[in-house]
Amino acid sequence: MKIPFHKPCITDRDVRAVVKCLRNGWLTMGNMTIEFENAFKKYVGSHYTVAVSSGTAALHLALEAIGLKEGDEVIVPAMTFTSTAEVVCYFKAKPVFVDIEKSTGNIDVSQIEKKITKRTKAIIPVDYAGQPADLNDIKRIANKNNLFIIVDAAHSLSSYYKGKRISRAADMTCFSFYATKTLTTGEGGMVATNNKRWAERIRIMRLHGISRDAWKRRSSRGGWYYEVVSPGYKYNISDMQSALGIEQLKKVDSMWRKRTRIAERYNKAFRNIEEVTIPYIKGHRQPSWHLYVIQLNIDTIKISRNQCIEQLKKTGVCVGVHFIPLYRHPFYRKKFGYAISQFPNCEWVYKRIISLPIYPSMTKREVTKVIKAVTNIVSRNRR
Ligand SMILES: Cc1ncc(COP(=O)(O)O)c(C=O)c1O
Repeated sequence: MKIPFHKPCITDRDVRAVVKCLRNGWLTMGNMTIEFENAFKKYVGSHYTVAVSSGTAALHLALEAIGLKEGDEVIVPAMTFTSTAEVVCYFKAKPVFVDIEKSTGNIDVSQIEKKITKRTKAIIPVDYAGQPADLNDIKRIANKNNLFIIVDAAHSLSSYYKGKRISRAADMTCFSFYATKTLTTGEGGMVATNNKRWAERIRIMRLHGISRDAWKRRSSRGGWYYEVVSPGYKYNISDMQSALGIEQLKKVDSMWRKRTRIAERYNKAFRNIEEVTIPYIKGHRQPSWHLYVIQLNIDTIKISRNQCIEQLKKTGVCVGVHFIPLYRHPFYRKKFGYAISQFPNCEWVYKRIISLPIYPSMTKREVTKVIKAVTNIVSRNRR
């Protein structure tokens, strides 16, 4: 029995919704997208939501909306997917990496202030694995230094922080609907904000810089008229994707409950195994359990993290590593001179982490198999 790292949760209802959209003949962005944005807005509790083609596009347009410029700096955690930092580079601005907490994998708030300069414009905290970052503490720093907070919530749809799905501390919150995420549209993303001006800017920039207001003003000229007010992007989502998103959103909480049950089983099984550290969840938050990341206590075993992954693969269990820290990639190293020695916590974590399979359709047998595989490998290789 092979256990993939992820399987999307696609039911007949999802399939029917997409087929219905295909049959009705309107494939690109239209009414289904408006419906998806409205349902999403209700779910996360924000005033405005704008759907886009990916989580990366969401982050890019959020930075565009705050007016990021060449030479500016944006603070990001060193342990994240490249999207979080690459969008900063789109503006010829500098992503400034901050080390993470060993326990949660989230940005280490105590290290943010020393990285702030006159050029710093924003902080992009990432809710690593689906555990919300310390947004209230980050907000205090942002207020003091006049910085925007754009949350990379690619992992954290369904999470709660201090009783809210998205924090009031965030200026904008960016979600991803990539194939492995807690809600998928294949590819897709969403920006949520309470700021009307930013939402309107993002709406314009996601579709070639075409102004809807201008279109409304001139509608007397007929449906063909539009005005380009800025060189925008082709970042819109389609109605086919939105139709899937609407269905996925209806079951997003039940999918979360299923992942939570799996996480609880893993926690119970690994809690007393000395070679494995289970995810540490801080107070006042509920994780989405997008990822279940264990840390191997490599001092207590004879094999490395990579060898452990190889052995898991041999037993048919596919796992991942989230993430290869950004400063380890040639681009960020060469362009900005980052070095491994600058991020000791990140390095410590990177050498130890393995992301285990966790998705709603995982059966009890599959979860048991993963637990046995991990347990057997670490006990076989005990020092
Ligand atoms: C932390 C993080 N941020 C941003 C993204 C980008 O999302 P997308 O693939 O939808 O562009 C990802 C995607 O994997 C991610 O893991």
